[in-house]
This record gives sequence, C-alpha cells and structure tokens, in this order.
Amino acid sequence: MSKTVLVSGGAGYIGSHVSVELINSGYNVVVADNMSNCDMTCFEGVKKITGKDDIPFYQIDCCDYESVVKLFDEQKIDAVIHFAAYKAVGESVAQPIMYYRNNLVSFLNILEAAKNHGGCNVLFSSSATVYGEAQDLPVTEQTPRLPATSPYGNTKQMCEDILRDVVKATAGSEGVVKGIALRYFNPIGAHPSALIGELPRGVPNNLVPFITQTAVGKRECLSIFGNDYPTEDGTCLRDYIDIVDLAKAHVAAVARMLDDRMKEGYEIFNVGTGRPVSVYELVTVFEKVNGLKLNYKFAPRRPGDVVAIWADTRLANEELGWQAERPLEETLASAWAWEKHLAEK
Ligand code: UFG
Repeated sequence: MSKTVLVSGGAGYIGSHVSVELINSGYNVVVADNMSNCDMTCFEGVKKITGKDDIPFYQIDCCDYESVVKLFDEQKIDAVIHFAAYKAVGESVAQPIMYYRNNLVSFLNILEAAKNHGGCNVLFSSSATVYGEAQDLPVTEQTPRLPATSPYGNTKQMCEDILRDVVKATAGSEGVVKGIALRYFNPIGAHPSALIGELPRGVPNNLVPFITQTAVGKRECLSIFGNDYPTEDGTCLRDYIDIVDLAKAHVAAVARMLDDRMKEGYEIFNVGTGRPVSVYELVTVFEKVNGLKLNYKFAPRRPGDVVAIWADTRLANEELGWQAERPLEETLASAWAWEKHLAEK
C-alpha cells in the first residue's frame, strides 16, 4: 500500500513542487495550509500536473492543535514534511513575537500530534541561514551553526533542536519520531510545466522573483546589493538550487525514513548544488538564456547579507543518492516562463 505524506504548507512554493514529486513517485499526499501567504493557484497546478484531482486538502492553521489532531485522526500519516512557517527575514526582525509564535507553535503541534498518533517520520525544512557567515567554504553539515542574526533564522535553529530532542526522547517508545532536517540553500525556478512557481506577495525580497518581475515590467529596476564585496566581480556568492531538484531531495529523504535506511534517528543534509554563483553572474545568465536585457543598477550593500555561502553536498549525494541536475540556464528559463504564465492569466 502506498504511504501517505502530510505536506504542511503544501500550497506554497516549495510545498507544491514537493507534492508533485511525491505523487509522481507513488506516494499519497495530504496537504494542510492556512493560505496565509498563497492562493489556490499552486494547489490547482499540482492537480493539473499530476492528473490527481482528489488530493485531500485541509485549510487549517497548524498553530491550532485541535485541527492538527483532527487531521491525524482522519488520515493515516506515515511521514510529515513541515513547511508551514513565515519566511521573511526583515519582517521577522520587526515582528519577532509573531514569528516565534507561528513557526514554533505550528511545529510543536505537528510533533505532538505525530507522537500521540503512534509516532511518525518528520522532515523539517531548514535553511543554510543556520550557518551564518561561515569561515570555511563550502559548508558541511558539521560546520558549526552561528548565532542567528534574525528571529526567522533563530526559529530554524530552534526547530532543528526541537526535532533532535523529540527524536531522542521518543526513541524506543510507542510514539517514536524520526527526523531529518534539510538545510536549503537558495531555491529558485519553477516547474517545467510553468503551472506552479513562486508567488511572492508585494515587493519580492528574493533575487530571482525580483529579476523576473523587473523583466516583465512589474518593477522598474533591479538593485544589485553591493558590488564591492571581496569576490571576483564584487557581488555576493550563493548556491542557487533548482526547485524541482530540491523537491526531489525531499522524496529521497522521505524514502530513506520510510524504508528504514536512516543511520541515526535524527539526520541533517545540505541541499544545494555545491556551486557558488555571483549575483552578477546570475543576472547575466538570466539575460542570455531568455534573450533579454534587464534593467539593473548597483546599489549599496543590504544589511545582514553574508558575502558568500555554498554547500558541500557530498553527504546528500552519498546518503540520499540525490544530486542537483538541472542546469542554471534551464532553471532561469523556467523562472521566466512562470512569470510570463502569470502575466497571461
Ligand atoms: N539581491 C539583490 N537584489 C535583490 C534581492 C537580492 O542584489 O533585489 C542579492 C542579495 O543581496 C544576495 C542575493 O541576491 O546577495 C540572494 O538574495 P536572496 O534574498 O534571494 O537570498 P538570501 O541568500 O539573502 O536568503 C536566502 C533565503 C532566506 C535564508 C537565506 C540564508 O531567502 O530565507 O537565504 O540561507 F535565510
């Protein structure tokens, strides 16, 4: 019998791509989302891409424990992938209480419900932000985490630790919880169908949606934050991971948990390409692959940005049998195709 995976935050950007790959790999998917930062576009897209129009959907807030318990009572959940969280760094600095409450309570509720329903496999969506301004690059999973520079980053660290502790405490019990934290680098791009992608509300904080919105004419000009960094072209270096590749890493991690192949009850993997790309290089590749000129200017550094970070991906490659495959050109073409799809709607 197919196993069932609960995807909390499943109507969002990453959650929708992960749902597609799970369904395509033969899993049943149950989606929970409070729709606080998305509409039904991506969930509808998931149904279209997979041809599955009976995906159970719970419009619930995971901060409401009763709703989470009801879901676990109604569905037999074998694994949970927890995305439901706020993710804007700047907003988290301005509204820490809201961020801590939402991101911590929702995860605690998922864990408690999982534990009380005979245990579960839990995959937490973490972030490379936990490494901060790392000295040794690329970062491995052993690279020490640095104190978080925003409440958002702190919730990622805290949730990793909560998962680790719950795994330890439930080992050997009836409600055993096993856990994997995936530390994402910079997820970008869209599904090749252009039916699902990133839908930022308001002015995008992230680079690629800002680029595509500038190209389509929604924004006047891209500011490249800082061109005096100690890098080859003076702009920051990041590890941009294609969203479909990222989604496939989740399928590999879920399979590892469900097939009992974990080496420890709690494991951590970096999910990136292992290749640093500068902001300027990314802009140039975007222009070239899509045959257009982008209106951009160099602007002062953005406070809080690290100069450079990219992943050592060997652990994920070896243990998950996964690696990033889609070339940056294709990913940036997909991001543009998605923006054009939105413009035609
Ligand atoms: N950038 C620009 N102009 C923009 C937007 C971004 O030049 O309009 C630059 C940034 O300065 C940075 C790079 O593009 O050098 C990438 O910026 P993003 O905002 O897209 O991504 P970050 O690396 O800052 O942040 C991402 C995730 C966060 C996470 C962080 C650290 O969005 O959730 O990585 O892991 F916390």
